Amino acid sequence: MPERTRYLAANWKMHKTTEEAERFLAEFLPQIPDSAEPEIVVCPPFTSLKTVIELCFQSPVRVAAQNMHEADQGAYTGEISAPMLVDLGVHGVILGHSERRQHFAESDAALALKVPAALGAGLEPILCVGENEGQRDADETEDVLTRQIQADLAEVPDARLSEVVIAYEPIWAIGTGRTATPEQAQEAIALIRELIESRSREGAEAIRILYGGSVKPDNAPELISQEGVDGALVGGASLDPADFASMVNAAV
Ligand code: PGA
Repeated sequence: MPERTRYLAANWKMHKTTEEAERFLAEFLPQIPDSAEPEIVVCPPFTSLKTVIELCFQSPVRVAAQNMHEADQGAYTGEISAPMLVDLGVHGVILGHSERRQHFAESDAALALKVPAALGAGLEPILCVGENEGQRDADETEDVLTRQIQADLAEVPDARLSEVVIAYEPIWAIGTGRTATPEQAQEAIALIRELIESRSREGAEAIRILYGGSVKPDNAPELISQEGVDGALVGGASLDPADFASMVNAAV
């Protein structure tokens, strides 16, 4: 079985001006190892992408956006396309975050277009999936994850599945301080890997599947050491350079 490189991503959401991003990196970059593992990805708001890319040049940190439109260009006021992100030097893009699904009506139909558009432009998609509290309580987690994975990856060729990064983020654990137990994370991630395997065995072996939802320095080591859990997508705790650096160092 091929080794999968661990992956730690910081989702800053709608936080940090360019000056705050600069201050974060001035503290964060000296604290991280200069090694190929884990892969470190910082996802700032659009407005600080360029600054963060410039400051991370010659560091192991790569930069991803938090959303994009599926079309290359067009009359879509307020939107940003994949070629525009590539033009800035962006490496990847978060797609289908639950906050976009909840507050901005991001649909599986849109994601079925966005994921291949990102890949086609040369961006690494970080596709987020996960159930809400009611769905977990009603025992619908498996159905929800199956539906999201099948729909969102429907137009990705089997041979390119391994280029997608998936983040399993139970909505009830995002920003709530309530973390999935390592067993819950592992179980959901195993299900996602089986869904990928039903399309491509090689893809399932190579694809990175992360856990996200109230990951913090004290719970990160246990969560990311679970079999099959390839890293974490960290929100709130990634805003602090020392906290995010400690999670990165725990994944070395
Ligand atoms: P959180 O957010 O770590 O603050 O729970 C994770 C995410 O939304 O990606």
